[in-house]
Amino acid sequence: MHLHGLITCMTFMAVSTVSATPQGKKCTEHRALRGEFVEGPAVFSADPTTHFDSPMVTVFDDSISENWSFDAVSKDGKASIVLYLTRGTVANVVAAQRGLISIAWANGTRYMENTFVDVSTLTTCPKTTSGLWTNNSGNITWGFTASKDFKQSVVTIKSPTINGTFKLKSQGPPIYPGGLVYPNAQGNVLFAPEMYWQEQFPVADAEVRLDVRGTPFHLNGIGGRDKNWNPRPWAVTSQNWDMGRAIVGPYGLMFWNYTSAVDGQSYFSATVTKGNKVIFRTSNQKASQSESYGTVQLTNTGPVHLASPPGSKDPLPESRHTGYLVDLMDPKTKEHWRFTIDFSQTTFWFPASETLRVGQYAGIASGGLVGKKTYKDLSTGSVQELVLL
Ligand SMILES: *[C@@H]1O[C@H](CO)[C@@H](O)[C@H](O)[C@H]1NC(C)=O
Ligand SMILES: *[C@@H]1O[C@H](CO)[C@@H](O)[C@H](O)[C@H]1NC(C)=O
Ligand SMILES: *[C@@H]1O[C@H](CO)[C@@H](O)[C@H](O)[C@H]1NC(C)=O
Ligand SMILES: *[C@@H]1O[C@H](CO)[C@@H](O)[C@H](O)[C@H]1NC(C)=O
Ligand SMILES: *[C@@H]1O[C@H](CO)[C@@H](O)[C@H](O)[C@H]1NC(C)=O
Ligand SMILES: *[C@@H]1O[C@H](CO)[C@@H](O)[C@H](O)[C@H]1NC(C)=O
Repeated sequence: MHLHGLITCMTFMAVSTVSATPQGKKCTEHRALRGEFVEGPAVFSADPTTHFDSPMVTVFDDSISENWSFDAVSKDGKASIVLYLTRGTVANVVAAQRGLISIAWANGTRYMENTFVDVSTLTTCPKTTSGLWTNNSGNITWGFTASKDFKQSVVTIKSPTINGTFKLKSQGPPIYPGGLVYPNAQGNVLFAPEMYWQEQFPVADAEVRLDVRGTPFHLNGIGGRDKNWNPRPWAVTSQNWDMGRAIVGPYGLMFWNYTSAVDGQSYFSATVTKGNKVIFRTSNQKASQSESYGTVQLTNTGPVHLASPPGSKDPLPESRHTGYLVDLMDPKTKEHWRFTIDFSQTTFWFPASETLRVGQYAGIASGGLVGKKTYKDLSTGSVQELVLL
């Protein structure tokens, strides 16, 4: 599949071509093939002004990956979905082209599919960006199209096992780690060592209409999407993380607390949005009299621990935690935001390595400004837990 002797010629296979749309406006295509990588360094960008859906990795080595993620939860907090479209090394497959979907129906029945295909093509046009992951035979396609204005996206899957769409309509602005709004030359897409991150839709309305092996999976609810690129796999560079998004009344919340295995430090970002505005942002974890800060604490008193699918032959121990308590402080305005998230469904729960488990959850979120009205809505997110040996 990947002969080292052919590496020089493979470099030319990650081609960028320019094509014309019917309107005569120019589109740029970047194609990446299964098994194609170079032995030298990967080529990737960290330019904060590059549009968030554009491919940032242009030449793959044997460990880098780029990953477009989409997730959602139904209005009752019971059905949930997460979907990744990945280029590059993933699940120990070097230079792969992969789609992964994991869903939970409201009754807790789960379906997960990991599909490796031959080629992915990212096409950036004046008004849209689209990505298409497909097999040479043409009977498997997983793709997305997103409007360049960050208002909407649609994932479409056509395959023998899954057909249908997963649509998102953004309810917040595109943000960098730390909460600056795109585009901003001061924005920084490097969140932590070897962890690049762009949040296209911190919070969104979601509509899913999928047919999964003959069973409908339909939901209306909330969700969001983001993109990451990483020179080495998450299982290597990440020690622990807590990530979530929530809609709570008029407010959108997006947070990530990530502990790096590269330097052992923890990196934090939390943003509160209202409509298309950021009304609170911080990456500061230390209490301060002058600067905004926040904490994300795990809780274990909620009703749902993340668990293996019902009927698993060899179930993993359940997650120790059941949700989060997020406190965000602005000493200047004396505002204190508090959000409680209780897991309500496991989207997936599996071992990331010998020492780590990784989960995706749907949750019920409540909160708002302390002393003001408390709202109750929904959350989705992911958690990585260190296995206690
Ligand atoms: C893709 O990104 C999501 C976060 O949005 C993360 O949970 C997941 O592990 C990533 N997957 C890959 C293959 O990088
Ligand atoms: C759960 O719901 C799904 C979708 O309706 C259905 O296919 C499945 O059989 C149900 N599972 C159980 C255990 O009832
Ligand atoms: C896609 O096609 C390749 C051969 O081109 C094959 O090895 C692979 O199994 C196919 N993938 C799926 C999911 O059918
Ligand atoms: C995809 O199409 C090819 C060629 O038409 C066929 O051989 C293959 O069985 C199909 N794969 C699936 C999974 O249907
Ligand atoms: C998806 O559509 C294809 C082509 O119309 C069909 O062969 C396949 O059975 C469908 N799969 C599902 C899960 O509906
Ligand atoms: C992030 O997680 C680390 C490790 O669990 C913890 O020490 C730190 O306080 C957390 N940060 C925030 C902002 O809560």
